[in-house]
Amino acid sequence: MNARTTFLAILSIAALTAHAIGAEPEPALAADRVGFPTNYRTKYKVLRLVDRSKEGKVVTVYGNEIAASVVSTNQLPYPNDSVIVMETTLLTKGADGKPVPDGKGGWTRGAVSGMHVMRRAKGFGEAYGKNRSGDWEFAEYKPDGSYITPPAKSAACAQCHIKAGAEKDFVYQARLGAPAK
Ligand code: HEC
Repeated sequence: MNARTTFLAILSIAALTAHAIGAEPEPALAADRVGFPTNYRTKYKVLRLVDRSKEGKVVTVYGNEIAASVVSTNQLPYPNDSVIVMETTLLTKGADGKPVPDGKGGWTRGAVSGMHVMRRAKGFGEAYGKNRSGDWEFAEYKPDGSYITPPAKSAACAQCHIKAGAEKDFVYQARLGAPAK
Protein backbone atom coordinates (compact mmCIF):
# COMPACT_ATOMS: atom_id res chain seq x y z
CA MET A 1 0.00 0.00 0.00
CA ASN A 2 1.31 3.43 -0.86
CA ALA A 3 0.50 6.48 1.23
CA ARG A 4 -2.51 7.39 -0.90
CA THR A 5 -4.23 4.00 -0.76
CA THR A 6 -3.50 3.77 2.98
CA PHE A 7 -5.12 7.16 3.44
CA LEU A 8 -8.19 6.14 1.39
CA ALA A 9 -8.50 2.87 3.31
CA ILE A 10 -8.45 4.74 6.63
CA LEU A 11 -11.06 7.16 5.31
CA SER A 12 -13.44 4.42 4.24
CA ILE A 13 -13.01 2.53 7.53
CA ALA A 14 -13.80 5.77 9.38
CA ALA A 15 -16.91 6.32 7.24
CA LEU A 16 -18.08 2.73 7.73
CA THR A 17 -17.54 2.94 11.49
CA ALA A 18 -19.40 6.23 11.71
CA HIS A 19 -22.28 4.66 9.81
CA ALA A 20 -22.28 1.47 11.89
CA ILE A 21 -22.43 3.26 15.23
CA GLY A 22 -25.03 5.69 13.94
CA ALA A 23 -22.77 8.67 14.43
CA GLU A 24 -24.52 10.60 11.70
CA PRO A 25 -27.07 12.79 13.45
CA GLU A 26 -30.61 13.02 12.10
CA PRO A 27 -31.13 16.30 10.26
CA ALA A 28 -32.69 18.73 12.71
CA LEU A 29 -33.70 22.29 13.35
CA ALA A 30 -31.06 24.94 13.88
CA ALA A 31 -33.35 27.33 15.74
CA ASP A 32 -36.55 27.32 17.77
CA ARG A 33 -39.37 28.59 15.57
CA VAL A 34 -41.98 26.74 17.63
CA GLY A 35 -41.87 28.94 20.70
CA PHE A 36 -42.76 28.32 24.32
CA PRO A 37 -46.54 28.73 24.56
CA THR A 38 -47.44 31.28 27.22
CA ASN A 39 -50.91 31.37 28.77
CA TYR A 40 -52.14 28.46 26.65
CA ARG A 41 -54.45 27.38 29.47
CA THR A 42 -56.45 30.58 29.16
CA LYS A 43 -55.85 31.52 25.50
CA TYR A 44 -56.10 28.13 23.76
CA LYS A 45 -59.04 25.75 23.42
CA VAL A 46 -59.04 22.22 24.82
CA LEU A 47 -59.08 19.85 21.83
CA ARG A 48 -58.83 16.53 23.64
CA LEU A 49 -58.50 14.94 27.07
CA VAL A 50 -56.41 11.78 27.09
CA ASP A 51 -57.09 9.40 29.97
CA ARG A 52 -53.67 8.42 31.31
CA SER A 53 -54.88 8.18 34.92
CA LYS A 54 -53.58 4.61 35.19
CA GLU A 55 -50.10 6.04 34.70
CA GLY A 56 -50.78 8.77 37.26
CA LYS A 57 -50.96 11.47 34.60
CA VAL A 58 -53.45 13.84 33.06
CA VAL A 59 -52.84 14.69 29.41
CA THR A 60 -54.64 17.63 27.81
CA VAL A 61 -54.31 18.69 24.17
CA TYR A 62 -54.83 22.39 23.43
CA GLY A 63 -54.94 24.34 20.18
CA ASN A 64 -54.65 28.01 19.44
CA GLU A 65 -57.67 29.61 17.75
CA ILE A 66 -56.41 28.65 14.27
CA ALA A 67 -55.76 24.99 15.12
CA ALA A 68 -59.06 24.78 17.01
CA SER A 69 -60.91 25.90 13.87
CA VAL A 70 -60.26 22.44 12.40
CA VAL A 71 -63.16 20.23 13.47
CA SER A 72 -63.41 17.89 10.48
CA THR A 73 -60.92 16.03 8.28
CA ASN A 74 -62.41 17.90 5.28
CA GLN A 75 -60.67 21.04 6.57
CA LEU A 76 -57.20 19.51 6.53
CA PRO A 77 -54.40 20.44 6.24
CA TYR A 78 -54.28 22.66 9.32
CA PRO A 79 -53.95 26.35 8.41
CA ASN A 80 -50.51 27.93 8.79
CA ASP A 81 -49.79 29.38 12.25
CA SER A 82 -51.65 26.52 13.93
CA VAL A 83 -50.12 25.63 17.30
CA ILE A 84 -50.98 22.41 19.17
CA VAL A 85 -49.82 21.86 22.77
CA MET A 86 -49.98 18.50 24.54
CA GLU A 87 -49.60 19.12 28.25
CA THR A 88 -48.78 16.39 30.77
CA THR A 89 -49.46 16.92 34.47
CA LEU A 90 -49.32 14.68 37.46
CA LEU A 91 -52.63 13.48 38.78
CA THR A 92 -53.89 15.04 42.01
CA LYS A 93 -54.96 12.36 44.49
CA GLY A 94 -57.53 12.76 47.22
CA ALA A 95 -57.17 11.66 50.87
CA ASP A 96 -58.45 8.21 49.80
CA GLY A 97 -55.56 7.93 47.32
CA LYS A 98 -57.92 8.08 44.36
CA PRO A 99 -57.83 10.62 41.51
CA VAL A 100 -60.14 13.59 42.02
CA PRO A 101 -62.72 14.25 39.25
CA ASP A 102 -62.61 17.83 37.92
CA GLY A 103 -66.36 17.92 37.27
CA LYS A 104 -65.74 18.34 33.52
CA GLY A 105 -65.20 14.72 32.63
CA GLY A 106 -61.50 14.75 33.46
CA TRP A 107 -59.29 14.60 36.53
CA THR A 108 -57.95 17.34 38.75
CA ARG A 109 -54.49 18.26 37.54
CA GLY A 110 -51.33 18.66 39.56
CA ALA A 111 -48.00 20.17 38.52
CA VAL A 112 -47.18 20.35 34.80
CA SER A 113 -44.32 17.99 33.93
CA GLY A 114 -43.94 18.97 30.29
CA MET A 115 -45.45 20.36 27.13
CA HIS A 116 -45.11 18.86 23.65
CA VAL A 117 -45.61 21.63 21.12
CA MET A 118 -45.99 21.59 17.33
CA ARG A 119 -46.33 24.67 15.13
CA ARG A 120 -47.20 24.75 11.44
CA ALA A 121 -46.04 27.51 9.11
CA LYS A 122 -45.03 28.07 5.52
CA GLY A 123 -41.73 26.32 4.78
CA PHE A 124 -41.53 24.76 8.26
CA GLY A 125 -40.24 21.21 8.61
CA GLU A 126 -37.82 21.34 5.70
CA ALA A 127 -34.78 21.01 7.97
CA TYR A 128 -35.95 17.54 9.09
CA GLY A 129 -35.08 16.19 5.61
CA LYS A 130 -36.20 12.55 5.32
CA ASN A 131 -38.03 12.79 8.66
CA ARG A 132 -40.15 15.75 7.57
CA SER A 133 -43.76 15.47 8.65
CA GLY A 134 -45.48 18.16 6.66
CA ASP A 135 -45.00 21.80 7.54
CA TRP A 136 -44.72 21.25 11.30
CA GLU A 137 -41.80 21.91 13.64
CA PHE A 138 -41.60 20.39 17.12
CA ALA A 139 -40.16 21.10 20.57
CA GLU A 140 -40.80 19.99 24.15
CA TYR A 141 -40.62 22.37 27.09
CA LYS A 142 -40.76 22.38 30.86
CA PRO A 143 -43.17 24.87 32.39
CA ASP A 144 -40.26 27.22 33.15
CA GLY A 145 -39.56 27.48 29.41
CA SER A 146 -36.42 25.32 29.41
CA TYR A 147 -36.20 22.40 27.00
CA ILE A 148 -36.95 18.74 27.48
CA THR A 149 -36.47 18.16 23.73
CA PRO A 150 -34.66 21.08 22.10
CA PRO A 151 -35.13 21.84 18.39
CA ALA A 152 -31.79 20.15 17.58
CA LYS A 153 -33.12 16.84 18.99
CA SER A 154 -36.65 17.12 17.66
CA ALA A 155 -36.14 14.89 14.60
CA ALA A 156 -37.52 12.03 16.73
CA CYS A 157 -40.83 13.89 17.07
CA ALA A 158 -41.12 14.43 13.30
CA GLN A 159 -40.06 10.84 12.64
CA CYS A 160 -42.92 9.43 14.71
CA HIS A 161 -45.54 11.94 13.58
CA ILE A 162 -44.94 10.80 9.98
CA LYS A 163 -46.89 7.70 11.03
CA ALA A 164 -50.01 9.78 11.72
CA GLY A 165 -50.08 10.16 7.93
CA ALA A 166 -50.28 12.99 5.41
CA GLU A 167 -54.06 12.49 5.23
CA LYS A 168 -54.23 13.61 8.89
CA ASP A 169 -51.64 16.33 8.28
CA PHE A 170 -49.32 14.39 10.64
CA VAL A 171 -51.49 15.17 13.68
CA TYR A 172 -52.46 11.97 15.50
CA GLN A 173 -55.71 13.03 17.10
CA ALA A 174 -56.36 16.53 18.41
CA ARG A 175 -60.12 16.84 17.69
CA LEU A 176 -60.25 14.38 14.83
CA GLY A 177 -59.83 10.97 16.41
CA ALA A 178 -57.26 8.30 15.65
CA PRO A 179 -55.99 7.74 12.11
CA ALA A 180 -57.29 4.68 10.25
CA LYS A 181 -54.99 1.70 10.71
C1 HEC B 1 -43.25 7.25 19.30
C2 HEC B 1 -44.15 8.18 18.63
C3 HEC B 1 -44.17 9.64 19.02
C4 HEC B 1 -43.12 10.48 19.29
C5 HEC B 1 -41.64 10.17 19.33
C6 HEC B 1 -43.71 11.79 19.51
N1 HEC B 1 -45.07 11.74 19.39
FE1 HEC B 1 -46.33 13.32 19.57
N2 HEC B 1 -47.90 12.01 19.55
C7 HEC B 1 -47.83 10.65 19.32
C8 HEC B 1 -49.15 10.07 19.45
C9 HEC B 1 -49.52 8.60 19.25
C10 HEC B 1 -50.03 11.13 19.80
C11 HEC B 1 -51.53 11.04 20.10
C12 HEC B 1 -51.75 10.89 21.61
C13 HEC B 1 -53.24 10.83 21.95
O1 HEC B 1 -54.00 11.73 21.56
O2 HEC B 1 -53.64 9.89 22.64
C14 HEC B 1 -49.21 12.34 19.82
C15 HEC B 1 -49.70 13.60 20.08
C16 HEC B 1 -48.96 14.77 19.99
C17 HEC B 1 -49.52 16.10 20.05
C18 HEC B 1 -51.01 16.42 20.07
C19 HEC B 1 -51.55 16.46 18.62
C20 HEC B 1 -51.70 15.07 17.98
O3 HEC B 1 -50.85 14.71 17.14
O4 HEC B 1 -52.65 14.35 18.33
C21 HEC B 1 -48.47 16.98 20.00
C22 HEC B 1 -48.53 18.49 20.05
C23 HEC B 1 -47.25 16.18 19.91
N3 HEC B 1 -47.60 14.84 19.91
C24 HEC B 1 -45.97 16.70 19.86
C25 HEC B 1 -44.82 15.93 19.91
C26 HEC B 1 -43.48 16.44 20.16
C27 HEC B 1 -43.12 17.90 20.34
C28 HEC B 1 -42.64 15.36 20.16
C29 HEC B 1 -41.16 15.32 20.41
C30 HEC B 1 -40.67 15.92 21.64
C31 HEC B 1 -43.46 14.17 19.92
N4 HEC B 1 -44.77 14.56 19.77
C32 HEC B 1 -42.95 12.89 19.82
C33 HEC B 1 -46.70 9.97 18.96
C34 HEC B 1 -45.40 10.44 19.11
